[in-house]
Amino acid sequence: MPDRLAPFQLALLNHKGGTGKTTLAFNLAAALAQRAPTLLVDLDAQGSALQWAAQQGGEKLPMRVSAALEAEAALGAAGEPPAFVVWDCPPSSDHPQVLALLSQLDWVLVPVLPSPIDLWASWHLVRLLQQARASRPGLQAAFVINQAEPDSALTAAMHDALREFELQVLPCVVRRRAIYRSAALGGQTVQMLGRRGAAAAAELDAVIEEILK
Ligand SMILES: Nc1ncnc2c1ncn2[C@@H]1O[C@H](COP(=O)(O)OP(=O)(O)O)[C@@H](O)[C@H]1O
Ligand SMILES: [Mg+2]
Repeated sequence: MPDRLAPFQLALLNHKGGTGKTTLAFNLAAALAQRAPTLLVDLDAQGSALQWAAQQGGEKLPMRVSAALEAEAALGAAGEPPAFVVWDCPPSSDHPQVLALLSQLDWVLVPVLPSPIDLWASWHLVRLLQQARASRPGLQAAFVINQAEPDSALTAAMHDALREFELQVLPCVVRRRAIYRSAALGGQTVQMLGRRGAAAAAELDAVIEEILK
Protein backbone atom coordinates (compact mmCIF):
# COMPACT_ATOMS: atom_id res chain seq x y z
CA MET A 1 0.00 0.00 0.00
CA PRO A 2 1.48 3.43 -0.91
CA ASP A 3 2.49 5.75 1.94
CA ARG A 4 0.55 8.92 2.72
CA LEU A 5 3.16 11.39 1.50
CA ALA A 6 3.74 9.85 -1.92
CA PRO A 7 0.55 8.86 -3.67
CA PHE A 8 0.80 6.11 -6.27
CA GLN A 9 0.23 7.82 -9.62
CA LEU A 10 -1.23 6.10 -12.67
CA ALA A 11 -1.90 7.75 -16.04
CA LEU A 12 -4.04 6.56 -18.94
CA LEU A 13 -2.19 7.70 -22.02
CA ASN A 14 -2.54 7.30 -25.76
CA HIS A 15 -2.06 9.91 -28.48
CA LYS A 16 -5.21 8.59 -30.18
CA GLY A 17 -8.72 9.48 -29.09
CA GLY A 18 -11.38 6.87 -28.44
CA THR A 19 -9.15 4.10 -27.12
CA GLY A 20 -10.74 4.12 -23.66
CA LYS A 21 -8.55 6.45 -21.60
CA THR A 22 -11.46 8.17 -19.90
CA THR A 23 -13.51 4.99 -19.49
CA LEU A 24 -10.62 3.16 -17.88
CA ALA A 25 -9.42 6.15 -15.84
CA PHE A 26 -12.90 6.63 -14.36
CA ASN A 27 -13.56 2.99 -13.53
CA LEU A 28 -10.00 2.13 -12.47
CA ALA A 29 -10.06 5.14 -10.14
CA ALA A 30 -13.28 3.72 -8.67
CA ALA A 31 -11.63 0.31 -8.29
CA LEU A 32 -8.63 1.86 -6.54
CA ALA A 33 -10.94 3.88 -4.30
CA GLN A 34 -12.20 0.58 -2.86
CA ARG A 35 -8.70 0.12 -1.47
CA ALA A 36 -7.70 3.67 -0.43
CA PRO A 37 -8.70 7.32 -1.03
CA THR A 38 -8.31 8.13 -4.71
CA LEU A 39 -8.23 11.31 -6.76
CA LEU A 40 -9.03 11.28 -10.49
CA VAL A 41 -7.59 14.24 -12.40
CA ASP A 42 -9.00 15.23 -15.77
CA LEU A 43 -6.09 16.54 -17.85
CA ASP A 44 -8.08 16.60 -21.07
CA ALA A 45 -9.35 19.98 -22.22
CA GLN A 46 -12.49 18.18 -23.42
CA GLY A 47 -13.28 17.52 -19.75
CA SER A 48 -14.95 14.14 -20.36
CA ALA A 49 -14.19 12.76 -16.91
CA LEU A 50 -15.53 15.92 -15.27
CA GLN A 51 -18.67 15.74 -17.41
CA TRP A 52 -19.07 12.08 -16.53
CA ALA A 53 -18.86 12.97 -12.83
CA ALA A 54 -21.37 15.79 -13.41
CA GLN A 55 -23.99 13.33 -14.72
CA GLN A 56 -24.09 11.83 -11.28
CA GLY A 57 -27.64 11.43 -10.11
CA GLY A 58 -27.22 11.13 -6.36
CA GLU A 59 -25.14 8.16 -5.34
CA LYS A 60 -21.76 9.51 -4.36
CA LEU A 61 -18.76 8.55 -6.47
CA PRO A 62 -16.14 6.61 -4.51
CA MET A 63 -13.29 8.83 -5.76
CA ARG A 64 -12.77 12.58 -5.96
CA VAL A 65 -12.68 14.04 -9.46
CA SER A 66 -10.77 17.23 -10.14
CA ALA A 67 -9.80 19.44 -13.07
CA ALA A 68 -6.09 19.72 -13.86
CA LEU A 69 -5.93 23.29 -12.56
CA GLU A 70 -7.30 22.23 -9.20
CA ALA A 71 -5.26 19.04 -8.89
CA GLU A 72 -2.55 20.56 -6.71
CA ALA A 73 -5.10 22.08 -4.37
CA ALA A 74 -7.00 18.79 -4.28
CA LEU A 75 -3.80 16.91 -3.46
CA GLY A 76 -3.00 19.29 -0.61
CA ALA A 77 -6.60 19.71 0.59
CA ALA A 78 -7.58 19.14 4.18
CA GLY A 79 -8.88 15.71 5.01
CA GLU A 80 -7.48 12.38 4.04
CA PRO A 81 -4.82 12.77 1.30
CA PRO A 82 -5.26 10.45 -1.68
CA ALA A 83 -3.18 7.30 -1.72
CA PHE A 84 -3.84 6.91 -5.47
CA VAL A 85 -3.96 9.55 -8.19
CA VAL A 86 -5.28 8.60 -11.62
CA TRP A 87 -4.65 10.95 -14.55
CA ASP A 88 -6.98 10.92 -17.55
CA CYS A 89 -4.77 12.31 -20.32
CA PRO A 90 -5.66 14.18 -23.52
CA PRO A 91 -5.21 12.38 -26.85
CA SER A 92 -1.67 13.64 -27.29
CA SER A 93 1.80 12.53 -26.33
CA ASP A 94 3.53 15.89 -26.64
CA HIS A 95 1.11 17.91 -24.58
CA PRO A 96 3.29 19.97 -22.13
CA GLN A 97 1.30 18.80 -19.10
CA VAL A 98 1.63 15.17 -20.17
CA LEU A 99 5.40 15.52 -20.64
CA ALA A 100 5.71 17.18 -17.22
CA LEU A 101 3.56 14.46 -15.66
CA LEU A 102 5.85 11.67 -16.88
CA SER A 103 8.49 12.67 -14.32
CA GLN A 104 6.17 11.98 -11.38
CA LEU A 105 4.24 8.89 -12.46
CA ASP A 106 4.55 5.34 -11.15
CA TRP A 107 2.56 3.65 -13.91
CA VAL A 108 1.36 4.43 -17.43
CA LEU A 109 -1.34 2.33 -19.02
CA VAL A 110 -1.75 2.68 -22.78
CA PRO A 111 -5.20 1.45 -23.79
CA VAL A 112 -5.32 0.13 -27.36
CA LEU A 113 -8.24 -1.10 -29.41
CA PRO A 114 -7.97 -4.61 -30.85
CA SER A 115 -7.13 -3.38 -34.32
CA PRO A 116 -3.74 -3.22 -36.02
CA ILE A 117 -4.53 0.22 -37.40
CA ASP A 118 -4.50 1.51 -33.86
CA LEU A 119 -1.00 0.19 -33.34
CA TRP A 120 0.76 1.48 -36.41
CA ALA A 121 1.14 4.96 -34.95
CA SER A 122 2.28 3.80 -31.52
CA TRP A 123 6.05 3.89 -32.08
CA HIS A 124 6.39 7.52 -31.05
CA LEU A 125 4.52 6.89 -27.81
CA VAL A 126 6.61 3.81 -27.03
CA ARG A 127 9.82 5.79 -27.61
CA LEU A 128 8.54 8.57 -25.37
CA LEU A 129 7.81 6.09 -22.60
CA GLN A 130 11.23 4.46 -22.99
CA GLN A 131 12.88 7.89 -22.65
CA ALA A 132 10.76 8.64 -19.60
CA ARG A 133 11.77 5.31 -18.06
CA ALA A 134 15.44 6.06 -18.68
CA SER A 135 15.20 9.15 -16.50
CA ARG A 136 12.73 7.62 -14.05
CA PRO A 137 13.68 3.96 -13.68
CA GLY A 138 10.77 3.18 -11.32
CA LEU A 139 8.23 4.09 -13.99
CA GLN A 140 6.29 1.13 -15.33
CA ALA A 141 4.26 1.15 -18.52
CA ALA A 142 2.16 -1.33 -20.44
CA PHE A 143 -0.40 -1.65 -23.17
CA VAL A 144 -3.82 -2.87 -22.16
CA ILE A 145 -6.19 -4.16 -24.82
CA ASN A 146 -9.55 -2.45 -24.44
CA GLN A 147 -12.85 -3.37 -26.11
CA ALA A 148 -11.56 -6.91 -26.61
CA GLU A 149 -14.02 -9.23 -28.33
CA PRO A 150 -14.72 -12.72 -26.99
CA ASP A 151 -12.79 -14.03 -30.05
CA SER A 152 -9.70 -15.36 -28.34
CA ALA A 153 -7.82 -15.83 -31.64
CA LEU A 154 -8.08 -12.10 -32.32
CA THR A 155 -6.96 -11.24 -28.80
CA ALA A 156 -4.01 -13.63 -29.15
CA ALA A 157 -3.11 -12.02 -32.50
CA MET A 158 -3.21 -8.60 -30.86
CA HIS A 159 -0.94 -9.79 -28.07
CA ASP A 160 1.48 -11.04 -30.74
CA ALA A 161 1.34 -7.75 -32.64
CA LEU A 162 1.94 -5.78 -29.45
CA ARG A 163 4.98 -7.88 -28.60
CA GLU A 164 6.80 -6.15 -31.49
CA PHE A 165 6.88 -3.02 -29.39
CA GLU A 166 9.31 -2.75 -26.54
CA LEU A 167 6.56 -2.20 -24.04
CA GLN A 168 4.94 -4.90 -21.96
CA VAL A 169 1.33 -5.92 -22.55
CA LEU A 170 -0.98 -6.71 -19.67
CA PRO A 171 -2.00 -10.37 -19.83
CA CYS A 172 -5.56 -9.45 -18.87
CA VAL A 173 -7.85 -7.52 -21.24
CA VAL A 174 -10.87 -5.25 -20.89
CA ARG A 175 -13.80 -6.60 -22.87
CA ARG A 176 -16.18 -4.61 -25.02
CA ARG A 177 -19.26 -4.28 -22.80
CA ALA A 178 -22.32 -2.06 -23.12
CA ILE A 179 -22.23 -1.57 -19.35
CA TYR A 180 -19.23 0.76 -19.70
CA ARG A 181 -21.37 3.07 -21.83
CA SER A 182 -24.46 2.87 -19.65
CA ALA A 183 -22.41 3.59 -16.54
CA ALA A 184 -21.08 6.75 -18.20
CA LEU A 185 -24.58 7.82 -19.22
CA GLY A 186 -25.71 7.72 -15.62
CA GLY A 187 -22.55 9.34 -14.25
CA GLN A 188 -21.75 6.09 -12.47
CA THR A 189 -18.92 3.62 -12.32
CA VAL A 190 -19.41 -0.03 -13.25
CA GLN A 191 -18.78 -0.93 -9.61
CA MET A 192 -21.89 1.08 -8.65
CA LEU A 193 -24.13 -1.04 -10.90
CA GLY A 194 -24.14 -4.15 -8.76
CA ARG A 195 -24.61 -7.45 -10.58
CA ARG A 196 -24.93 -5.74 -13.99
CA GLY A 197 -21.44 -4.30 -13.60
CA ALA A 198 -19.86 -7.25 -11.81
CA ALA A 199 -18.04 -8.78 -14.80
CA ALA A 200 -16.62 -5.39 -15.77
CA ALA A 201 -15.63 -4.65 -12.18
CA ALA A 202 -13.89 -8.02 -11.95
CA GLU A 203 -11.83 -7.45 -15.11
CA LEU A 204 -10.80 -4.03 -13.83
CA ASP A 205 -9.73 -5.57 -10.52
CA ALA A 206 -7.50 -7.90 -12.54
CA VAL A 207 -5.90 -4.84 -14.17
CA ILE A 208 -5.35 -3.25 -10.74
CA GLU A 209 -3.78 -6.48 -9.46
CA GLU A 210 -1.30 -6.38 -12.35
CA ILE A 211 -0.43 -2.76 -11.67
CA LEU A 212 0.02 -3.09 -7.92
CA LYS A 213 1.91 -6.39 -7.90
N1 LIG B 1 -14.57 -1.64 -22.86
C1 LIG B 1 -15.48 -0.89 -23.46
N2 LIG B 1 -16.67 -1.44 -23.86
C2 LIG B 1 -17.60 -0.69 -24.51
N3 LIG B 1 -17.45 0.61 -24.80
C3 LIG B 1 -16.29 1.22 -24.44
C4 LIG B 1 -15.26 0.52 -23.75
N4 LIG B 1 -14.24 1.38 -23.54
C5 LIG B 1 -14.61 2.56 -24.05
N5 LIG B 1 -15.84 2.48 -24.60
C6 LIG B 1 -16.57 3.55 -25.30
O1 LIG B 1 -15.73 4.00 -26.37
C7 LIG B 1 -15.81 5.39 -26.52
C8 LIG B 1 -14.43 6.02 -26.35
O2 LIG B 1 -13.99 5.79 -25.03
P1 LIG B 1 -13.26 6.94 -24.18
O3 LIG B 1 -13.02 6.37 -22.83
O4 LIG B 1 -14.00 8.23 -24.27
O5 LIG B 1 -11.88 7.05 -24.98
P2 LIG B 1 -10.75 8.20 -24.90
O6 LIG B 1 -10.83 8.82 -23.55
O7 LIG B 1 -9.47 7.45 -25.14
O8 LIG B 1 -11.04 9.16 -26.02
C9 LIG B 1 -16.82 5.87 -25.50
O9 LIG B 1 -18.07 5.96 -26.14
C10 LIG B 1 -16.82 4.76 -24.45
O10 LIG B 1 -18.08 4.67 -23.79
MG1 LIG C 1 -10.94 10.85 -22.99
